[in-house]
Amino acid sequence: MSDHPDSRRRFLKWLGLAPGALLLLEAGCADSASNGASRDASSGDTSAGDTGADTSSPDASPSDTGAPDTALADAGADAGACEPTGSDVEGPFHLDGAPQRTVLADADEPGERIVIEGTVLGPDCRTPVAQANLDVWHADVEGNYHDDRTEYRLRGQVQTDAQGRYRFETIMPGRYPLGGSTRPAHIHFIVTKPGFVPLTTQLYFAGDPFLSPNDPCGSGCNSGDPTLIIDLEPGQGDISQQGRFDIVLRRS
Ligand SMILES: [Fe+2]
Repeated sequence: MSDHPDSRRRFLKWLGLAPGALLLLEAGCADSASNGASRDASSGDTSAGDTGADTSSPDASPSDTGAPDTALADAGADAGACEPTGSDVEGPFHLDGAPQRTVLADADEPGERIVIEGTVLGPDCRTPVAQANLDVWHADVEGNYHDDRTEYRLRGQVQTDAQGRYRFETIMPGRYPLGGSTRPAHIHFIVTKPGFVPLTTQLYFAGDPFLSPNDPCGSGCNSGDPTLIIDLEPGQGDISQQGRFDIVLRRS
């Protein structure tokens, strides 16, 4: 099933949901507070979830010795600058079982080719997380998702290396209509590693005019979270643009 808007409406009808649910489900706004929802759109369970909803501080606060302590002051400053990557809703279009690969878009996939790279870090924002798994999916250049389980078009799983680094190549996702407006371009991620809280989130691009507060997903999505917005710069060769998205996980 293509995720063209008509297909999505048919999908909702198949689910037995009222048309009014379309807006919420398309954006994954049905439930932005809970987590652990289905990650398989074909299962019929499209409730969105957010595994990163825990907003507690990842680090213990410095003890108060009652005396000036430069080291503690520095630690406090670092802690303030060190933020776990924010979570965002999963949406209804995740598919389990995407292949391990670092090129998500076939050579003939229409669109501007981009590279996203970064490092997955622990809650101190320093310690690399090796062999973390990044499950990545996004819409095509026209804003449509694809759910063929043979092709897994514009989907893939990427592992971090021993230094916590990852890199993948794909195309710039298109924006898609929602509730009479338009969602900003985004890439979905589910980042997992034993010992850390799974992170379900979305990556956005600086300068997109549909970022929050213009995102029709409203408070259900987090396109205003600066930890989720990256700059793009010119790439090399066939790569039009590239950007860096470092990801900071919380310990479980
Ligand atoms: Fe999406």
